Amino acid sequence: MSKFISETVTYVHHWNDSLFTIKTTRGDSLRFRNGEFAMIGIMVDGKPLARAYSIASPNWAEELEFFSIKVPDGPLTSRLQHIQVGDELLISKKPTGTLVLDDLLPGKHLYMLATGTGLAPFLSLCRDPEVYERFEKVILVHGVRHVEDLAYRDFFENELPNDEIFGEWVREKFIYYPTVTRDEFKNTGRVTDLLKSGKLFDDIGLPPINKQDDRVMICGSMAMNADTAAILDEFGLTVSPRMGEPADYVVERAFVG
Ligand code: A2P
Repeated sequence: MSKFISETVTYVHHWNDSLFTIKTTRGDSLRFRNGEFAMIGIMVDGKPLARAYSIASPNWAEELEFFSIKVPDGPLTSRLQHIQVGDELLISKKPTGTLVLDDLLPGKHLYMLATGTGLAPFLSLCRDPEVYERFEKVILVHGVRHVEDLAYRDFFENELPNDEIFGEWVREKFIYYPTVTRDEFKNTGRVTDLLKSGKLFDDIGLPPINKQDDRVMICGSMAMNADTAAILDEFGLTVSPRMGEPADYVVERAFVG
């Protein structure tokens, strides 16, 4: 039996030359926890070619959403970027992953630290009611190279705070902190440097990350994940060692290809 289900593409949006979003239909069979990833792909030479992608839509939504980079010579993304409404997308039947609320201990503040397309799982999680039930403040930091890479900025700044269901929670609890490393912008610098210098905490008006109050999810490149985890270790937080074992922070890499 195939590992994949096939869904139909309903929407494609190109943010710029290197980033795009795909939405598909969602059959009844796919169940997932917000923050998890699935393998997605297309048939190439009669075989599925698939890579891991965080599911960007929340698990209550009727459609599935994925946020992708275009890797110039990437076997999958060089093809996937040409996908059109009406095409079929393969999606693995059993999503999994470590960026789940179940693997975080109770806390006051939830930090979601992302670079690039590592934003995707947080697009799902920021539309999970449990996030706002469990935490007093939810801080999303999105680090990118250029201002034009701040995909979903309008969603975070305008749409989500005015959402019928989430608006009130978002206005009270949610802090969106975009930061850019290679252009001028209101916030600049790497996520890691903003943590180390404490500038992030000064800017958002919260105390520096500490084991007592703060829980963290990390999703970026392998280097970003490793560097950020090392800083959190220095702050005294403990990583969840494996799925199902809650701790102070969880980490996952953003999958590209
Ligand atoms: P920089 O411009 O200084 O490389 P990328 O597209 O390469 O994944 O980068 C996305 C963002 O993540 C960029 O702002 C980049 O900053 C930043 N970045 C790259 N490597 C790291 C790292 N090890 N720790 C923190 N941020 C990183």
